Order: sequence, then C-alpha cells, then structure tokens
Amino acid sequence: MTRTIVLIGPMGSGKSTIGRLLAARLHIPYVDSDQLIVNHTGVDIPTIFEIEGEAGFREREAKVIADLQEQANPMVLATGGGAVLDPRNRGHLRQMGRVIYLDISVAEQLKRVRHDRNRPLLQNTDLETRLEQIARQRNHIYQQTAHWRVSGDGLRSDQVLRRILRHL
Ligand code: S3P
Repeated sequence: MTRTIVLIGPMGSGKSTIGRLLAARLHIPYVDSDQLIVNHTGVDIPTIFEIEGEAGFREREAKVIADLQEQANPMVLATGGGAVLDPRNRGHLRQMGRVIYLDISVAEQLKRVRHDRNRPLLQNTDLETRLEQIARQRNHIYQQTAHWRVSGDGLRSDQVLRRILRHL
C-alpha cells in the first residue's frame, strides 16, 4: 500500500505544487496543513498572525498536524515552512510516513517569493536578510526531520516530481 508522504521545506520550495502533482500520480488525497487552518478559521494566514500572533498560528498548526497524524489513510501532506520548529510536529510528521525535504537556496527562494503578500514572516523586512536568517535557523532541522532530501534549485516541478517518484 502507498504510504503517506510528508513534504517539508522553506517557503517557496514548491511543497504545494509538487504535493498536488505527487498526490495525483499516486492516487491519494492531497492535504495542505496551512489550507486546513484557513478552512477551520475562515480567515487567511496574515489575519491569523495579526490577531493571534505567530504563537497562536503555531498552536493551530500543531493541532492540525496532531489530528492528521491520527488518520490511517495515506495522503500527501504539504506542511507550512515553520511546521518543523515544534518538536511535537517533528515526531508526528515522521510517524505519518516518509518525510521529504524540498531544499532550495535563498537565491532561488528570492525569485519565487518576491512580491508575496500571503506570508506574514516576509512582510516589511529586507527579504534576503530575512530568508537567510530563517534558513540558518531551520535548514538543519529540515535535514534532521526528513528521511530524504531533494534539491529543487534550477528544476521545474515536474523534474522534482520525477526525482521523488524514482526514490519512493
Ligand atoms: C511559514 C510558512 C508558510 C505559512 C506561514 C508560516 C513559515 O507556509 O505556514 O506563513 O514559518 O515558514 P509556506 O511554507 O507554504 O509558505
């Protein structure tokens, strides 16, 4: 039986795009933890950050991931870039199935997330400095949490998808 696949990695690494493609190819549901939070609250992520702060968002994220971990059916789960910060989530994600780290450089990220208005952590800041700071804080955590890492730099989504499929 197909196992659950969890995609982790920084903002703009392609977790949602590749997650959708992967789910379609494997004929299993695609689930996006950010989207579940938006569905539950009825507001977008910037609004949640505005009202509840990052801490409130993280609590919601942890709750969604804990609930998903209890589901038996396989899925492709795309997580938010900061989901791995909470050790509880790291444990849950690894218990769910195969965890893949979509790795991209800050240079590549810059091209993809410029002009983004839906990511509160990237607003009103020097984008490159911020992305570098986040990468320093998180990249080793992605590495430790994942069973496998795939680099997406310079690759189209279908090429990343092919690499993943070869490895499953
Ligand atoms: C975040 C990434 C976002 C979203 C929220 C916080 C982060 O998801 O969960 O804005 O801390 O890196 P994406 O990685 O899908 O952009």
